[in-house]
Amino acid sequence: MPVKKKKSVDLSTQPIGVFDSGIGGLTVANAIQKVLPHESLVYFGDTAHLPYGDKSPDSIKYYSIRIAQFLMQKNCKMIVIACNTASSIAFETVKDFVGGKIPVVDVISPVVEIVTHNKNIHKVGVIGTKGTIKSDIYAKKIKAASKKEVASLATPLLAPMIEEGFFNNKISRSVIASYLSSRKLAKIDALILACTHYPLIRQEVEEYYANDVNIIDTAGVVADSVKEVLKKNKLLSKKKSPTHHFYVSDFTKSFEESTRFFFKSQIHLEKVDFWK
Ligand code: DGL
Repeated sequence: MPVKKKKSVDLSTQPIGVFDSGIGGLTVANAIQKVLPHESLVYFGDTAHLPYGDKSPDSIKYYSIRIAQFLMQKNCKMIVIACNTASSIAFETVKDFVGGKIPVVDVISPVVEIVTHNKNIHKVGVIGTKGTIKSDIYAKKIKAASKKEVASLATPLLAPMIEEGFFNNKISRSVIASYLSSRKLAKIDALILACTHYPLIRQEVEEYYANDVNIIDTAGVVADSVKEVLKKNKLLSKKKSPTHHFYVSDFTKSFEESTRFFFKSQIHLEKVDFWK
């Protein structure tokens, strides 16, 4: 009897797994799609536990592991932690859980790399959720690799404000100005927008600084890093027609409608019930 040859799986055609606390991480998914149009995506937004910015580190680690497991069950070839808060707190935990089976990319390391290599930056500001700022991860990583000064400020009103569609208007400009006028951020050369939602207010932040400060938003930087890692691991897809799935742990019509802010077009969300 002829021996049946085991069909080897072409890992490169498998999807990239992207996760976030909610739908804000779609800014990262969107940036990845632009840089890598042949890649399929499996997105997971943990809308049942949103916001992560106010959760304890233990909860965020627990949720992140469970989501990583879900993405691996979906045969993802890579995991991207799109959420800044989860990246701050659970990157090492997720990597330990995945155990080197597939690459894991966070949103912080690629940004730190760019900042530490930029000679024009002497003092860098960081704005993000309470969780991200409390972790002090940007300061720790940037200071470990350079002599740069880091000023961090929690800006918890910004994410819910943007989610409710308040950007490019009087209210958002006033909230942004009130945060950015903090003494802590005086004399910065660059500002890291360390939250999934902030690409949507990038222009307003640039206007506030009259283009005098280098504004670094994480989505684009991370998408380039995802490409690099896939290339290095020979995992780049050549698929002509990639397919995307967008899962959430809790569905509401308003979540689905808000996807248009973050993904540039409204997308269909599928609910999964894996927390039970
Ligand atoms: N996705 C979160 C982040 O980037 C913002 C929203 C939340 O607090 O869950 O930090």
